[in-house]
Amino acid sequence: MNTIGSMNDKVTISISKGTSLDVLTSIIGEASFSCSGVRIYCGDCLEFLKKLPNSIVSLTVTSPPYNIGKEYEKRMELEEYLNWCESWINEVYRITSPQGAFWLNLGYLEVPEKAKSLPIPYFLWDHIPFYIIQEVVWNYGAGVAARRSFSPRNEKFLWCVKDPYNYTFNLEDIRDKNVKYLNQKKHGKLKCNPLGKNPTDVWQFPKVTSGTNRASKERTNHPAQFPIAVVDRIVKACSNKGELVMDPFMGSGSTAEACLRNFRPVFGFETRPDYVEIAAMRIDKYLKKKAAEDAQGKLFARV
Ligand SMILES: C[S@@+](CC[C@H](N)C(=O)[O-])C[C@H]1O[C@@H](n2cnc3c(N)ncnc32)[C@H](O)[C@@H]1O
Repeated sequence: MNTIGSMNDKVTISISKGTSLDVLTSIIGEASFSCSGVRIYCGDCLEFLKKLPNSIVSLTVTSPPYNIGKEYEKRMELEEYLNWCESWINEVYRITSPQGAFWLNLGYLEVPEKAKSLPIPYFLWDHIPFYIIQEVVWNYGAGVAARRSFSPRNEKFLWCVKDPYNYTFNLEDIRDKNVKYLNQKKHGKLKCNPLGKNPTDVWQFPKVTSGTNRASKERTNHPAQFPIAVVDRIVKACSNKGELVMDPFMGSGSTAEACLRNFRPVFGFETRPDYVEIAAMRIDKYLKKKAAEDAQGKLFARV
C-alpha cells in the first residue's frame, strides 16, 4: 500500500508532553497515514502491539470486531474469539502507563442453547488484567425493530484502569449543561455546579446513521462508525492534553479526530487499506476546516 500523506501538512498540532509519535517510527516503521499528531498503521494490531515498549500509552479507546460476521471480520468459534480478545487486551495493558485507562466498546453475542444476545463483557471481564471502574451504557434513539423481544437501543463501554487509586477523571471538562434549574439556589447558594451536572453512566448520543435523507453529517463510508461525541467525552474525561492515545481498531478514524480536536497525539491500527483511506480523508477534511476557521479568527482579531 502507498503511503498516504496528509494534504494539509501545514496545520500543526502542538504536543507538549508524553511519548512522541516519532518514536513509533523507529520501532514499527513508517505509518500508512501520517500528519501532525496522528499516525495510522495498516495491518494486524496484535502484531504491531507486540513490538511496542511498556507503558507508553495514557488512554486506549476502541471498538473491536464483535464476531458477528460484518464485512471487516472473519467469524471465529466463540472460544477462539475470546482468546483473541484476551491476547490483544493483554498487550494493551502492557503498553498502558501506570495511571492509564482503557475504554472498550463491545456488542452482544448469541450463545447457542443459552442466550439470544449476551453482552460480550460478560465473557471477558475476569479474563483481562485491568481493574474495571464502571460500565457505561450508550443509549441511542434509532435502531433495528425487534419482534419477539425489546428493540435494542444500547451498547456498553467498559471503563478500565491499571490503578484503581490513581487514574485520570476530568469531571470538570465533561459536565453536562443540560440541567433543568441551573440557577436554583438554597440558602443563597447555587444548588448546581454552574458548569453542569455529572453526565451519569447512561449517555444519550444519536448513532451515526446512513440513508439518503437521514444520513448523519459526520458519516463516512465505514459500516460501524462511532459518533464523535462519545469518543470526545472519553478523551476529555480520561486523558490530558499532550498525552498519547491509541485505537488498535481505527476504522474510520473517529478516535483520531476526537484526539486532534482535543490536542492529544494519537496512533492506531487498521487492517483494511480502504478504511485507512477513509480515515485519512476524514482527518484531512477536519484539518482543512480547522485551518479555515483559525484563519478567519485571526482576520477578525485584526479588525
Ligand atoms: C467496529 S470497527 C471500528 C470502528 C471505529 N470505532 C470507527 O469509529 O470508525 C472495527 C475495525 O477493526 C478493523 N480490524 C479488524 N481486525 C483487525 C485487526 N486484527 N487489527 C486492526 N484492525 C482490525 C476492521 O477493519 C474495522 O474497521
